[in-house]
Amino acid sequence: MEGELWALGAESKIIRAVWQERPVAIKSRVVKPYLLADIDELLRRQRTARECKMLTYARSLGIPTPAVYFIDRRNNAIVMDFIEGEQLKEVAQHADIALLEQLCSKFGTMIGYLHRGKVVHGDPTTSNVIVDPMGKLWMVDFGLAEWNATVEMMGVDLHLVHRALETTHWDRQDTMLDAFLEGYSSVMGAAAAAVLSRMEEIRERGRYH
Ligand SMILES: Nc1ncnc2c1ncn2[C@@H]1O[C@H](COP(=O)(O)OP(=O)(O)OP(=O)(O)O)[C@@H](O)[C@H]1O
Ligand SMILES: [Mg+2]
Repeated sequence: MEGELWALGAESKIIRAVWQERPVAIKSRVVKPYLLADIDELLRRQRTARECKMLTYARSLGIPTPAVYFIDRRNNAIVMDFIEGEQLKEVAQHADIALLEQLCSKFGTMIGYLHRGKVVHGDPTTSNVIVDPMGKLWMVDFGLAEWNATVEMMGVDLHLVHRALETTHWDRQDTMLDAFLEGYSSVMGAAAAAVLSRMEEIRERGRYH
């Protein structure tokens, strides 16, 4: 399949291509020369399989994710729908406050739906959320997601959101975090309190280490 390089990360690369007349994203995991070849292959295979399952499972919990068409096992690549739009990370740089609050609140509800289903995302940053032209949010990058999440795991997920906001969006982080937590709590209900206090605890632990 021919395509253009869309994103190149430390772990993976995304090619934008057309498959059966549909725009698709092909995510493949990059070979890491500094890892033992067998371990590298195993990790790439595990993360690819996990991402594929989690993209589909997350959708069953109500989180919009790209549909997966197939896995190319030889190359550890996933062929999925290409989502048109812009990363939330980019949108946050030019959106007005009202829109930013609305988007972050939706981001919070998405993580809330995941956690309510006992799943953690593992890398819940604003670059893993795509805002489409209709203003709908989509989540990607589920290679580190996990099932049977405990309060500790959910607390870590929220801590990662908090940290991503303070490092990437330092000037708008308060607005963004408040809106995010409002959306999250609206979905998690009474279960939110324990996760929020765990998030604070993890943050405190981090301060003294
Ligand atoms: N299905 C998709 N449709 C459109 N864009 C996508 C899709 N999947 C990923 N992307 C874009 O490519 C970027 C990188 O993909 P992804 O987050 O899955 O990989 P990654 O290994 O985390 O890369 P990085 O190391 O840069 O975080 C995403 O932030 C998103 O902007
Ligand atoms: Mg990513």
